Amino acid sequence: MNAIEIEGLHTYYGKSHILHGVSLTVEEGRLTTLLGRNGAGKTTTMRSVMGLTPAREGTVRIFGRETTRWPSFRIAALGVGYVPEGRRIFPNLSVEENLKVPLERPGPWSIPRVYELFPRLQERKLNRGRQLSGGEQEMLSIARALLLNPRVLILDEPSQGLAPLIVRDVFRIVAEMRNEGISVLLVEQNVRMSLEIADYAYVLDDGMIVHAGPAAELARDEERIQSLAGATAEEWHEKEPAA
Ligand SMILES: Nc1ncnc2c1ncn2[C@@H]1O[C@H](COP(=O)(O)OP(=O)(O)OP(=O)(O)O)[C@@H](O)[C@H]1O
Ligand SMILES: [Mg+2]
Repeated sequence: MNAIEIEGLHTYYGKSHILHGVSLTVEEGRLTTLLGRNGAGKTTTMRSVMGLTPAREGTVRIFGRETTRWPSFRIAALGVGYVPEGRRIFPNLSVEENLKVPLERPGPWSIPRVYELFPRLQERKLNRGRQLSGGEQEMLSIARALLLNPRVLILDEPSQGLAPLIVRDVFRIVAEMRNEGISVLLVEQNVRMSLEIADYAYVLDDGMIVHAGPAAELARDEERIQSLAGATAEEWHEKEPAA
């Protein structure tokens, strides 16, 4: 069964036509990445999957159920964890209190288990959200989504604005999620790192899917990576340790 299957999505903000027939599949147990430049429509695609900006045309299927017109809370209840752009944590609550907020779904993830995965959060459990660094806030957002014991996790640019060393940590954790059997849809601008951990990749441009294929295949296509990521790819290339 596929975790997420979207077909021919057309999504609008008012009169602006943003997605022009987007189709993609997230296979169960796999890490699928959706890449593309600023404004390509990546977040809009996630919002359409989550029912936050429902598509006007096309269908969304999650674990075999057609959810196109479902409200977000019903979609979440199917076991879809969503970590939106920009880390929505509670700044005035402690780390521990932030972790107690999500409604729990039964499963293997509990607060002690997320502390095992993120020792940094355990060390800082009495600190308030606003006292955390960007990387710690991202970890807290991911930890909260894990406590829902999702069957599929949707992450919107988890590496945004983080220092390179922390970025590596975040990508390692995302890969670990997949190794735990969670299906993942990862939206990223960090093309190289995403392709390193993903099984399958899609490229979105101007609201249309312009490439779909195994991540390893795209990772070898230097020219396409350059055109996709531009300066970002260059930057990562230079930081790669010499082999
Ligand atoms: N609430 C909104 N109202 C109107 N237009 C919007 C709205 N949100 C996004 N857009 C437009 O929709 C297009 C796609 O935006 P979207 O946020 O999906 O892109 P993205 O690929 O996630 O970009 P980024 O990498 O910058 O996050 C952009 O042209 C954007 O300006
Ligand atoms: Mg976005």
